[in-house]
Amino acid sequence: GARTRAGPVAASPDVDMAELPLETRCPPTPLRQYGGFWWPEPILPGVLAARAGFEPRPSDVFLASFPKSGTTWLKALAFAALHRADHPPRAPGHPLRRRNPHDCVEFLEGLFALSPSPVKGGDVFAAHPSPRVIATHIPYSLLPERVTAEGAGCKVVYVCRDPKDAFVSTWMFANKMVEAAADNNGDSPPPPAPFTIEDAFELYCHGRSMGGPQWHHVAGYWEASRRRPGKVLFLRYEDMLRDPAGNVSKLAEFMGCAFSAEEEAAGVVRDIVELCSIDALKNLEANKDGGQSYVKNESFFRKGVAGDWRNHMTLAMAVRLDKIVEDALQGSEFTF
Ligand code: A3P
Repeated sequence: GARTRAGPVAASPDVDMAELPLETRCPPTPLRQYGGFWWPEPILPGVLAARAGFEPRPSDVFLASFPKSGTTWLKALAFAALHRADHPPRAPGHPLRRRNPHDCVEFLEGLFALSPSPVKGGDVFAAHPSPRVIATHIPYSLLPERVTAEGAGCKVVYVCRDPKDAFVSTWMFANKMVEAAADNNGDSPPPPAPFTIEDAFELYCHGRSMGGPQWHHVAGYWEASRRRPGKVLFLRYEDMLRDPAGNVSKLAEFMGCAFSAEEEAAGVVRDIVELCSIDALKNLEANKDGGQSYVKNESFFRKGVAGDWRNHMTLAMAVRLDKIVEDALQGSEFTF
């Protein structure tokens, strides 16, 4: 439930999925609870396979997030900053002008889920040149131990978002995935029943959403960033909106590729912020068309603001969720 504290679990590739708690009311896929968090059933084998078989390199940079918290933006910013020597942000042929950010930076558990044999999933990442940027929705306590081990060298950047905005974005995205699944279903199936905000909210309050409970996901990374500040950087989506350039500079410095004074003067930071802005990205053909099998690329770009929850949640819902989060985080120094 919502108040279960997540603890570290032993790596166990032979977990019996059918034995794990099941939640079928969160479309588009069933969720299974593992290690204190709820996972889309098709993804969990990828998490287990990555824990068993991923071979980190000291130069790896992980981009971690609870879903719908700014992952796409963080992927674009980190990719653009880290690869700016090969791909100057103003270049017309920049990879982010031709491909969706999710095709430029892949999800660890997603790739391992596509090829759940640890060896095959590992091979895909082994083929990537260093430094690798790899995204994940895995909570800190369940990251492969080889990634978080002292001496591993890997860096982790986390983006945190207000739980109410993350909820609204999650709920809307779930409906997009339901539509995409119906579209993929071939000849005129009956239109899928929408996932109502009331149902989605009740489940979210109990931690039952992809990656939930959101507040434990966030608190786990926040605590890790306090313990290991050189290895775990904690960013906030709302801060990034207020000061994108300052946060990109912080991100680059953390990744070991700080901007030089010359680059700053030449406007490289500003160019990266512009390249990765929601308005620039959402208008690219690559982000209007195509997509993953489970959702269209355009669904990753909605409003991109702080506080949109006010347009969808009642005040009573907001008060209730804030209280749940506050109670669950008692004893943690973290606050949203
Ligand atoms: P909203 O649904 O509130 O608009 P994720 O990338 O983790 O799936 O998160 C999606 C959220 O980030 C969506 O929020 C989306 O609009 C927003 N987003 C996507 N690209 C963005 C960008 N370049 N800058 C700011 N926000 C962005």
